[in-house]
Amino acid sequence: MRKWIIASCLALAAALPLAAQRTGETPEQKAQRMEWFDKAKLGIFIHWGIYAVDGVSESWSFYNNYLPYSEYMAQKDGFTAAKYNPAEWARLIKESGAQYTVITSKHHDGVALWDTKASDLSVPKQTAAKKDVLTPFVKEIRKQGLKLGLYYSLLDWSHPDYPNFTKTETRYSIADDPARWQRFVDFDFAQLKELSKAYKPDLFWFDGDWEQSAETWHAPGIIGLLTSYNKNVIVNSRIQGYGDYGTPEQGVPTIRPEDRYWELCYTINDSWGFQHTDVNFKTPQMVLKTFVDCLSMGGNLLLDIGPREDGTIPEEEVAVLKELGRWTRKHKEAVYNTRAGIPAGHVHGWTTLNEAGDILYIYLPYKPIGSVEVKGIVNRVNRVWVVGSGQMLNYKVYNKVYWNEIPGLLEIDVPEQALDPGITVLAVLLDGPAKVYRGAGQVITAN
Ligand code: GLC
Repeated sequence: MRKWIIASCLALAAALPLAAQRTGETPEQKAQRMEWFDKAKLGIFIHWGIYAVDGVSESWSFYNNYLPYSEYMAQKDGFTAAKYNPAEWARLIKESGAQYTVITSKHHDGVALWDTKASDLSVPKQTAAKKDVLTPFVKEIRKQGLKLGLYYSLLDWSHPDYPNFTKTETRYSIADDPARWQRFVDFDFAQLKELSKAYKPDLFWFDGDWEQSAETWHAPGIIGLLTSYNKNVIVNSRIQGYGDYGTPEQGVPTIRPEDRYWELCYTINDSWGFQHTDVNFKTPQMVLKTFVDCLSMGGNLLLDIGPREDGTIPEEEVAVLKELGRWTRKHKEAVYNTRAGIPAGHVHGWTTLNEAGDILYIYLPYKPIGSVEVKGIVNRVNRVWVVGSGQMLNYKVYNKVYWNEIPGLLEIDVPEQALDPGITVLAVLLDGPAKVYRGAGQVITAN
């Protein structure tokens, strides 16, 4: 019995536990709609709001009663956007190698970044900044040719018609006053219509769906509204089963998520928004490792930055984005057109495959001592090189016996001079789509 499996088949195992099929759309049409997202690999998330003034947790700080609502809202007077330079933000995002961005158009606190007509609670109407800060950002993002994602919280703890206010205080129950709830639904629809019309986002990133059911949110109606403005719009999973892709948050998956499409949302320190006391920044190389980890499992990284109230971005975050940029520019062939690699355990390092499946990329976050060993590759190896420089590497296969089908050990020499200061990438060209041996060894049958 053949004990090896075709690795490329793994990439096609496409269960969609969170994502529902969009009405009238075939799987092929969905694949087409998701194509840019699938290839984008890196996105930059932006949490910007009045919470950056005192550096408290976004919206949750009043919901969890860490501070009174009035004190939370008083931050509006300190939100100046005085040094806000959206062109610089967009350039930095572009420079990082990200292909898309997602910005908090409205977080759970209800403060809209744009000049919404559906309520008075917005940055232009009620903060010291006195201006719409979303429109100029969208313009710059488009100028850079990046895809636009808008984060939108379905729930709104500030809205007088939203039932929940804080952890301990509710306004009313939907069952007792459906007409009041309907007013809130109309409000969400009105804002989503404004956003769709004004900005034509490529992606909606919903949040807060857990407080109500799909039916209560009118989830199918929301999807209908968004697609009436952009039939190709992509929606994340946080809309009670009506989204397109999974959104694991913070914890890096250790096995490949079941969703065919997924994106890890992830902070650089421990907070989404700016917090003065949170200096627990990851190093650029740590973030790079997580990025490659996501690539190896066929997912995207949505990396968050939290600008200060004046619009400046903390230096530690800028440094991470710049290092991602250096690395993605050098290694683009091993970033954007890749898919999940071979299963873990074949090499010490992460792997991906090119689209055809005949180039195995190996990512080394360390300085090897001696040669790099790859086991279980059934294919013949045609050549090995260093991504970024094209430098050819010497390699040899050991221990291949003729009487069993277990591949030998591929040993690749990686000279010190070929190493990248962050993560070194090797490309292994195979004689066809990658096949890996996944058995537990064989006893002797001949000699
Ligand atoms: C969570 C939080 C929120 C944050 C979001 C980002 O669901 O509610 O504060 O914006 O995750 O993924």
